[in-house]
Amino acid sequence: MADTAEMLIIRAETVKDFDAVRKLNKKAFRGKSESKLVDALRESDGFIPGLSLVAEKGGKVVGHILFSPVRIKDLNSAAPALALAPMAVLPDCQNQGIGSELVKYGLNECKRSGHKIIVVVGHPEYYPRFGFVKAGEKGLKLPFEAPDEVFMALELVPGALNGVKGTIEYPKEFHTVT
Ligand SMILES: CC(C)(COP(=O)(O)OP(=O)(O)OC[C@H]1O[C@@H](n2cnc3c(N)ncnc32)[C@H](O)[C@@H]1OP(=O)(O)O)[C@@H](O)C(=O)NCCC(=O)NCCS
Repeated sequence: MADTAEMLIIRAETVKDFDAVRKLNKKAFRGKSESKLVDALRESDGFIPGLSLVAEKGGKVVGHILFSPVRIKDLNSAAPALALAPMAVLPDCQNQGIGSELVKYGLNECKRSGHKIIVVVGHPEYYPRFGFVKAGEKGLKLPFEAPDEVFMALELVPGALNGVKGTIEYPKEFHTVT
């Protein structure tokens, strides 16, 4: 029989997880910015509760990932997308595949709920394994300065980025919460 204490469960977060999510973001990022951002995004207009996911092991929350709605804005167009940010795994639990499970489950949930494009600003060695490619090469831009290789995009539906270009418009919390 499987040892349920060690089984990894990925699920949507509930109110009871908020404190654990706050603490794990503080530990993983060694600061309060990301936990404050998650708290603020939960209160934001476009927040999608089903896309704030936790990884639970032995009854403990060990990881978290959040996808928030953004728009890819050009002069005459605005295409919907999701931004993967932030994601974190407790330092003691890193390098055990938990982050990968969160990303894979999360991307599947995004696709299942009809989303087509994901963008991320993150480690360029990490996200390509899930299919992310350089977003700049697809005609996407960030509203702030960042090295080319950290800005990546993924088509959940093949061809979703065809004809889509422009600058990512993030929820205001990404700019106002520090
Ligand atoms: C990034 C993070 C979420 C990955 O979670 P994880 O559970 O350790 O990831 P996995 O076990 O699925 O994968 C481990 C892989 O991630 C890589 N990785 C972890 N941290 C990394 C970093 N800072 N830069 C690049 N790669 C990193 C490891 O080198 C390992 O690579 P390998 O499989 O080629 O050996 C976790 O390390 C973390 O919380 N880091 C601190 C917060 C953070 O940086 N969040 C991401 C912001 S983009």
